Amino acid sequence: MRFAQRRTPHARAPGVYAESTSVVTQTNKEAVCLSGEPLTTLPPVETSVDKPILGIESSCDELACAVLSADGCTVLSDEVHSQIEMHAHFGGIVPEVASRDHVRRLTFVLEQALKKAGVTLSDLGGIAVTAGPGLIGSLLCGLEFAKGLALATGLPLVGVHHHEGHLAAAFLSDKPPVGPFVALLVSGGHTSLIHVEKLGGPYAVIGETRDDAAGEAFDKTAKFLGLGYPGGIVIDRLAADADADRFPFPDVMAGKNNFDFSFSGLKTAAIVLARAQPAPLEGQALRDFCASFQAAVVENLLKKAFRAVRLHDTKQLVICGGVAANRELRTRAETRAHREGVRLIIPEKRWCTDNAAMIARAGWTRLMCGAKGRDTISAQPYWKLA
Ligand code: KG4
Ligand code: ZN
Repeated sequence: MRFAQRRTPHARAPGVYAESTSVVTQTNKEAVCLSGEPLTTLPPVETSVDKPILGIESSCDELACAVLSADGCTVLSDEVHSQIEMHAHFGGIVPEVASRDHVRRLTFVLEQALKKAGVTLSDLGGIAVTAGPGLIGSLLCGLEFAKGLALATGLPLVGVHHHEGHLAAAFLSDKPPVGPFVALLVSGGHTSLIHVEKLGGPYAVIGETRDDAAGEAFDKTAKFLGLGYPGGIVIDRLAADADADRFPFPDVMAGKNNFDFSFSGLKTAAIVLARAQPAPLEGQALRDFCASFQAAVVENLLKKAFRAVRLHDTKQLVICGGVAANRELRTRAETRAHREGVRLIIPEKRWCTDNAAMIARAGWTRLMCGAKGRDTISAQPYWKLA
């Protein structure tokens, strides 16, 4: 198992500024045990959550709070405050701007989530907060706020791995996956194929990107085309009903016999191809270009994901993370799953991009297994999913 330790944790935007990476290190063994280890290694404490769970997510540029029902099945409220407009001005995320805005809005977003769920803090049974990976400043905002809440209310607090949160989004559906399964996690900062025993782990990363994440390739290509930030959703929109065969994109597999990805070559191919056009791309040509690029990214992802399913003796595939909101990815995955007899689970679009319902769901599983912490949990900007 490898992990791209040297990459900016949320290097999802072309303009993400380098941040200090040495501010917080994991020093507390208990914190690792409580929030990072597979659940199998936790002491077998029998507890049950019989009250709703509050989820808090602030790992990057979205600030979200959600309340999940006591049985973990129903999202009672789901508030997301996006900072896209603030960062679009800079063409990417400015970490300091992100954390300052989180601090300003945390209380308001929490109050809204509680109000919409029809609960107060005293009705809750626990708090789940993203502890990493992510931008250190952004993580600290949510985590320290959650610690304060836990201290004031006496509620158990659990630190959640952001990627486990994305996986947990698949469990918010009526028909959740049943482990073991293969998950394709595609977000702005990460692209990996994970073999999941069950929610809570153990997790085995069987492949990941060697360079850019899929969302990053979308965002950087969109930025080059002058489509603004973040670009994934814009490319998705422009590509609708356009000709995906018009522009030739190379098959940029990072080796046919492994499960790794490479998207920086595809991004470079897009830039070279766009520059080689006799006239600037606009109108139908721009739409066809977006469709061709999108098809190349999607094909690349699905080829490896379905191969992983075949070779890992499971008939279930989960696709999650922000890029899983892409319509072409969803449609092609469905067609392929049908053809190959694979059970496909893709969360609703609102739970593909960053949100707190998924954090609450992941936290719910851990709280059910007796995990509880408080001041022992530390922010972990780089954190391996185990
Ligand atoms: O999971 P996410 O919200 O944040 C991270 O954890 O990184 O993913 C954000 C990424 C961005 O790169 C964004 O451009 C991409 O997901 N994205 C999409 C779509 N919606 C969001 N990419 C392609 N098509 C979409 N519809
Ligand atoms: Zn995410």
